[in-house]
Amino acid sequence: MKIIITNNNAQGGTEAFKIFKNSIDHGGKVFGLATGSTPLTLYKEWTESDVDTHNLISINLDEYVGLTPDNDQSYHYFMQKNLFAKKPFKKSYVPDGIKAIKDPEGAASDYNQIIKENPIDVQLLGIGQNGHIAFNEPGTSFNSVTHEVKLTANTIKANSRFFSNIDDVPKSAICTGIANIMSAKKIVIMAFGANKADAIQKMIEGPVTEKVPASILQKHPDVTVIIDKEAASKLKQK
Ligand code: GLP
Repeated sequence: MKIIITNNNAQGGTEAFKIFKNSIDHGGKVFGLATGSTPLTLYKEWTESDVDTHNLISINLDEYVGLTPDNDQSYHYFMQKNLFAKKPFKKSYVPDGIKAIKDPEGAASDYNQIIKENPIDVQLLGIGQNGHIAFNEPGTSFNSVTHEVKLTANTIKANSRFFSNIDDVPKSAICTGIANIMSAKKIVIMAFGANKADAIQKMIEGPVTEKVPASILQKHPDVTVIIDKEAASKLKQK
């Protein structure tokens, strides 16, 4: 793993953007994208750049079950607002959280097919405080592909900060699996702040275990970790 320690999340966004731009400049076409507060500095750099996205494809990691794309808490809406409104891609895929109400398996298998047909050049990830990637919570099989996930009480609580009421947070999501994530040619994972320090330490220095989903990244040949000093503060090897 290559580790880049930055002074703050703005600098982290700049570093991450360099990797995406370099891939685009060298013919990269398919980008795995993520939501959450962490990638916002990257998306800001991207929207302010002159990089042309018209020939690119994006594949997002996950979507809540039951939220329509125009719901301002849906990940469709988040991506539209923070990236696609200014940088439209040729095609942008986000799991179908509406189809998933009645047919979660259908929505998941449609998405697996999309990932199979569009191998990901660079996959962006954030990390949850318990080491989850996308919505793959501790205990998820490393062999998992896109599936419906029942969100844990912890994740519902953490994500409730974006909703007016914790009861409004959906109880499940359609989420790409760990095997899908690991199939990307290159992975960039970003994390900022002291509340991510434990997860980052376990991801980089702990055993590879399904108890810490992000620890599987130790087995991927091309991972760049972009963290600030606070998120790096529990690393033993500096
Ligand atoms: C959610 C998302 C993840 C994200 C994580 C951390 O659970 N499904 O993709 O990485 O939260 O979010 P944040 O970047 O806001 O800390």
